[in-house]
Amino acid sequence: MMQSRQSAEDQGETSMQQVRSTAPGDRTGHGHAHAKSILLGEHAVVYGTPAIAVPLHALDLTVTVHSRADEQIRIRSELYDGSAEEAPQRLHPLVTAVHTALALTSGSPMGLDLEVVSRIPYERGLGSSAAVAAAIARAIADLTGTDLDGEAVHDVVMAAETIAHGRSSGLDGRAVASDAPILFQGGVTTAVPVGGRFVFVLADSGHAGSTAEAVGAVRELRATFPTRVDGLIGRLGAIVEESRSLFASGDRVALGALMDEAQALLVELEVSDATLDRLVEAARAAGALGAKLTGGGRGGCILALAPDVESAADLQHSLRAAGATRTWQTTVETA
Ligand code: MEV
Repeated sequence: MMQSRQSAEDQGETSMQQVRSTAPGDRTGHGHAHAKSILLGEHAVVYGTPAIAVPLHALDLTVTVHSRADEQIRIRSELYDGSAEEAPQRLHPLVTAVHTALALTSGSPMGLDLEVVSRIPYERGLGSSAAVAAAIARAIADLTGTDLDGEAVHDVVMAAETIAHGRSSGLDGRAVASDAPILFQGGVTTAVPVGGRFVFVLADSGHAGSTAEAVGAVRELRATFPTRVDGLIGRLGAIVEESRSLFASGDRVALGALMDEAQALLVELEVSDATLDRLVEAARAAGALGAKLTGGGRGGCILALAPDVESAADLQHSLRAAGATRTWQTTVETA
C-alpha cells in the first residue's frame, strides 16, 4: 500500500467551466491516473527481463473532457493551449491518445474540450506521458458512457507511448494503472509480495530526460558491444529476481545493496549523468541504504532507500542541499 493519496479533481473541474462550449446535451467526463517509479530493472526490461515499479499516488493528474457542438478538439494543459491540429510535437502522444480513445468509444467523430491538470513533473522518468494517456482513455470512456476495461486503457496508453518513446516495454502503462507494486516481464504483470516497510525518497535532478533518447542510446550501445551489453542486461534482470525475496522478507539492507549494484550497471549502460551520479553519492553519504536513477535516466530523478521512516525527511533535506530541485517520499509496505 502507498501513502499520500490525494486528488486534483476539484481544481480540474473548476477550470474546465471556463472552456466549455455551449453544445446542447453537454457532457463531461473525468479521468485520473498517478505517476510511477521504477525500483529496479529499467532499460533491461525493454529486452525482456523483469522490472519492479511502484505507484506514486501523491503525484497524480486529472483529465476533464467536455463535449463540443462542433468537431474540434481543443487542449488546455500546462504545456499548451490550443487546437489538437496545431499542437506541437511534444503533445503528439496526447493527441494520439485522444484519437485512439475516441475510436474505441464513440463510433462517430466528436468535438472535445480537454483539460489536463497535473502534479506529475514532465520528462522526469515518472511516467507522466503514460499517466496522461491513461487518464484521457478513462475521461473519454466516462464522457461517452463506455465501459473500457484495463486492456483497452492499456491499448490507448501503448498507442501514445509508441509515439512518445519509440520502442517501449509497456511497463510504464501498467505501472501508472496499478494501485500496488508490480513485477512486469514481457508484457505480463504480477503482484510483488511485500513483507516489511520500505521508505523511498525520490529526488529530481532538475534536468529533463528523454526516455526515447536514452532507450535509443542503449540500443546503439548494444549494437556496437552486443556481448558486454547483454551481460549488463542479464545482470539487471537477475537483480530484479533476487530482489523479490528481499521485498517478501523485508530485508532493506540487502535491497539497498542491489540498488547500488543496479546503479553501477546503469552507469555502464551510459544512461546516468553527472547530476544523477552526484545525487546518488549524496544519498549514500547521508545514510541511504542504496540509491540509483529511476526511469529512463540522462536527466530525471534518483530513488534512494531510507534506513527507516524517521530518517527519510533528513535524507530529503540532504538531497536538496546537494542540488535536488524537488524531493518526495513514498512508502511500500505490507497491504
Ligand atoms: C522508462 O520509464 C522505462 C524504460 O525501461 C523504457 C521502457 O521500459 O519502455 C527506460
